[in-house]
Amino acid sequence: MNDPIATLKRDHREAAAMLKELAESKPGAARRKTTDRVSAALALHMQIEEKLVYPLVAERVGEDEEHEAETEHSLARDGLAKMNELVDEGGFGAAVAMVTAGIKHHVKEEETEIFPKLKEKLARDELAKLGDEVAAAKKAGGV
Ligand SMILES: [Fe+2]
Ligand SMILES: [Fe+2]
Repeated sequence: MNDPIATLKRDHREAAAMLKELAESKPGAARRKTTDRVSAALALHMQIEEKLVYPLVAERVGEDEEHEAETEHSLARDGLAKMNELVDEGGFGAAVAMVTAGIKHHVKEEETEIFPKLKEKLARDELAKLGDEVAAAKKAGGV
């Protein structure tokens, strides 16, 4: 079975590793490439969560949880836009630190509260269906 939660957690670890790399980076082509990679990876990750996972969260866990996550995704998108804007500037490190802190907060909520609660509320076949949908969206590069 494709476990959707495991896939999303793996995305979180990969994004954290890329952000760490960026925090230690110097201006140049490698930094720009990693900035593009983490931006694309997180855009896809958030789209998948918003289209496939959070509708179920709103229905089974609570609308407040869904709204809060939506706000946090919006903050992450703003931060990523700023990071891209500053990729060759002195403020890049601060932008990376801001994005990293915001995402760390959000990921902790997803992994310790929202996703475990959702998993509890889903029947095994629903979880498997969600896992297949998440895997297909990742493979296709979008939902
Ligand atoms: Fe999220
Ligand atoms: Fe996430």
